[in-house]
Amino acid sequence: MSTIKHYLQFNDFSADEYAYLLARAAKLKQMFKKYENHKTLTDHTLAMIFEKASTRTRVSFEAGMYQLGGSVVHLTTNDSQLGRSEPIEDSARVISRMVDLVMIRTYEQTKIEKFAEFSRVPVINGLTNEFHPCQILADIFTFIEHRGPIQGKTVAWIGDGNNMANTWLQAAQLLDFKLHISAPTGYELDEKLALGAKADPAHFQTFESPQEACVGAHLVTTDVWTSMGYEEENAKRMKAFANWKVDSAMMAQAQSDALFMHCLPAHRGEEVDADVIDGAQSVVWDEAENRMHVQKALMEYLLVGKQSNIH
Ligand code: CP
Ligand code: NVA
Repeated sequence: MSTIKHYLQFNDFSADEYAYLLARAAKLKQMFKKYENHKTLTDHTLAMIFEKASTRTRVSFEAGMYQLGGSVVHLTTNDSQLGRSEPIEDSARVISRMVDLVMIRTYEQTKIEKFAEFSRVPVINGLTNEFHPCQILADIFTFIEHRGPIQGKTVAWIGDGNNMANTWLQAAQLLDFKLHISAPTGYELDEKLALGAKADPAHFQTFESPQEACVGAHLVTTDVWTSMGYEEENAKRMKAFANWKVDSAMMAQAQSDALFMHCLPAHRGEEVDADVIDGAQSVVWDEAENRMHVQKALMEYLLVGKQSNIH
């Protein structure tokens, strides 16, 4: 049984570990802005494997690793043997003998779990069909940066019961806040997938009406109607999701100082109106930047452990 610490889903870390990571990410962000030396990962190499497209995940991990003094290898399905059916176990055995850390963006969660099982080094989930933990870590960091502790607050999830929604649900239960969820029929979140038998109804509530889900929320958040890998369902989804567009009327149901977030990429006029995503309550650009700061803290934690410099 391997004792290597991986980050495959949000539940892999405890609330105490998140308290450390969020504090350390704030410190790393401050040092980055002041051009202070923070090369804690000199001589470490990260391999990034992308089986789906990416802008933010690639740039944030790659730039972040260089800033920490390490280096990066970038692989995709098309330009590696992964796309020519080399078994995932063999890829994990080989790649993990040459690098210190692996980040994977792929389809099924079982695939990243299999890679981790055969890896000699920590593995980070850079998005699967089921989960997107690095994004939710950045979103929570961004919320705290703007509004203080998220504990006891209400987050409204409007739209697909997808990888983002599953991860929000894990975070709500672990960090003690409430998730309001409104998804079209057929696209609901499966709380058993995210939480198994441990699902605690105190941390989530489902709503048929997206407007009602927003009532009292401190944060309203959404995502694309068609996630990567589901493109063939696009026409059907466009119809099913038509009423799940975050607009200013929906935002008006939330707290007057509610924030708006979107992991991006966004489609203005589909899941969100331009006046919301480009409006005063939106923090999407901070949210995107913060991917880099939280992932730097995450990589450092997995490779060299806790640092004393967090204040
Ligand atoms: N939010 C996010 O993961 O963006 P990319 O798909 O561009 O990496
Ligand atoms: N749910 C989206 C998130 C993209 C960052 C997808 O999986 O495509």
